[in-house]
Amino acid sequence: VGTQTPNDLDGWPRAPFTLKGLGCKMGPPFIRTTSQALLSVFPTEATLPRGGSVLVNCSSTCEEEAFLGLETPLTKEERDRGHNWKVFKLSDVEEDSKPMCFSNCGPNQTLASISITVYRLPEHMELFPLPPWQPVGENLTLKCQVKGGAPRAQLTLVLLRGEEELSRQPAVGEPAEGNATVLAGRGDYGANFTCRAELDLRPQGLGFFQNTSAPRQLRTFVLPMTSPQLETPRILEVGTSEKVVCSMGGLFPASEARVHLALGDHRLNTTVTYNKDSLSATAWVEGTAENEGDHLLVCAIMLGNQSQESWRNLTVYSFPAPNLTLSEQEVSEGTQVEVACEASVGLRVRLSDAPAEPWAPSVQFLLNATAEDNGRHFSCSAALEVAGHLLYKNQTKELRVLYGPRLDESDCLGNWTWPEETNQKLSCQAWGNPVPQLTCLRETDGALLPTGDLRPVKKQYEGTYICKAESPRGAVTRKVFLTVLSECASVRGWAQVGTEILAQEAAAMKLNTQATPP
Ligand SMILES: *[C@@H]1O[C@H](CO)[C@@H](O)[C@H](O)[C@H]1NC(C)=O
Ligand SMILES: *[C@@H]1O[C@H](CO)[C@@H](O)[C@H](O)[C@H]1NC(C)=O
Ligand SMILES: *[C@@H]1O[C@H](CO)[C@@H](O)[C@H](O)[C@H]1NC(C)=O
Ligand SMILES: *[C@@H]1O[C@H](CO)[C@@H](O)[C@H](O)[C@H]1NC(C)=O
Ligand SMILES: *[C@@H]1O[C@H](CO)[C@@H](O)[C@H](O)[C@H]1NC(C)=O
Ligand SMILES: *[C@@H]1O[C@H](CO)[C@@H](O)[C@H](O)[C@H]1NC(C)=O
Repeated sequence: VGTQTPNDLDGWPRAPFTLKGLGCKMGPPFIRTTSQALLSVFPTEATLPRGGSVLVNCSSTCEEEAFLGLETPLTKEERDRGHNWKVFKLSDVEEDSKPMCFSNCGPNQTLASISITVYRLPEHMELFPLPPWQPVGENLTLKCQVKGGAPRAQLTLVLLRGEEELSRQPAVGEPAEGNATVLAGRGDYGANFTCRAELDLRPQGLGFFQNTSAPRQLRTFVLPMTSPQLETPRILEVGTSEKVVCSMGGLFPASEARVHLALGDHRLNTTVTYNKDSLSATAWVEGTAENEGDHLLVCAIMLGNQSQESWRNLTVYSFPAPNLTLSEQEVSEGTQVEVACEASVGLRVRLSDAPAEPWAPSVQFLLNATAEDNGRHFSCSAALEVAGHLLYKNQTKELRVLYGPRLDESDCLGNWTWPEETNQKLSCQAWGNPVPQLTCLRETDGALLPTGDLRPVKKQYEGTYICKAESPRGAVTRKVFLTVLSECASVRGWAQVGTEILAQEAAAMKLNTQATPP
């Protein structure tokens, strides 16, 4: 590649265009005239930069003293002369030109022309702007414009992607335009395109010049023709927040994609996470008294100059809980309690266990509290239909009834008769709220009644026990008889025991009788 600087072309030796065999072609140098005098010019052809200068030697073979001259509109100056030769300097050459040497040899005039070609580099070159975004898989046409630059026959336009040549064509017209079409791919994302003008003056013995346009960078993209996936609640209660997720795959380059998530006109504060070729946008949508009602939740994913959208309906509702009241939360058995349930404006309620079942703005009933009502739960439900969804809100309260103490036969059986050494279970339980304390003591010695699993039953357990259930609400007692049959006792033995008892009783009576003074 030639890099000559075509300035300062005053003298022969320094000229960037050399004559013999380089800058000049030795055309047919002699023109035969009738008087046999030959006129020659050197050089016959010259290529020089615009505004440059050239020395031209016109010489004649005239046998006499010839008159030599140079016919040209260019600025000329005689620089040297000898016998039948003259050297002219042509300067400020702006355009191609054909100066003419003439020689008057006697009566004959001969002519010889010189061909001067002016070369110049382009003044302006530009690659036309690329589309801001180019879809992958679509053709992209690059266009380059070059102003100036000569000689055109030696000027070539080359379009490039990076270092790769896409097209090469001669520069035609003014301005000259070159173009190339490429199928945009993912690999073209970030690629730099340029246009290059090449002025090849090597055949003229000069250099190889090139000018390159400013690069233009391309951005390619892929946005699938599908809607983003939008996960949102259908309904949202005032005072609560719910997550909204909008996602999409198959994006290129995913990191360039933008997301717009909005509830109606209100843009949501969105967090976007990018993966290799997908993105996921998350936002929290809040139900407020101001946005109560029906809205459109929109997600738009934008990439390049395209976008894809999805939308869902979202209803923001308010649903105050019903109000359940018990006139008293803790009552004594036999007391009347009012159970009331009230809905907030416009809603209806139902009360579990209420005698009447229909939904009403408010429901209440009176209850004569019994022991069975202790720990009973009352539940009040309000219902609301929102966008086809039936919603309930329940409030539950527990009633506590004070009763007892109770120690019924079913809770603590009075008479137990068991054979000795057998396994039995003895249970005795008192009831009440508050829970009564139960103590069972043997009448004779205050021994505690053995309860629970008796493995085995011992003779010494026998006796009459007094069971006492006691709570702040009072006390009740109950007798428990525990009879243990001796291991050896048979039906007859039973009788003998009875007899013995009778005998003992008789003896006791005797003793009493004896003790009784007459
Ligand atoms: C001009 O040409 C003539 C004839 O070829 C030659 O004798 C003369 O030296 C040349 N002049 C210069 C300055 O080269
Ligand atoms: C072409 O290149 C030359 C030399 O490098 C420079 O002086 C000129 O300004 C360039 N022209 C354009 C249009 O870039
Ligand atoms: C394109 O040019 C820009 C800016 O000069 C550069 O950052 C980028 O790496 C180039 N792209 C390629 C693919 O070379
Ligand atoms: C509640 O029930 C008890 C037991 O059945 C009864 O003695 C009492 O009179 C009732 N009280 C009222 C207010 O109805
Ligand atoms: C609330 O009450 C409704 C109707 O009584 C019932 O279907 C629903 O299961 C209850 N919900 C809860 C959480 O208790
Ligand atoms: C338990 O037995 C005793 C005497 O054997 C009797 O007097 C009493 O009535 C009995 N009690 C019950 C509740 O059966």
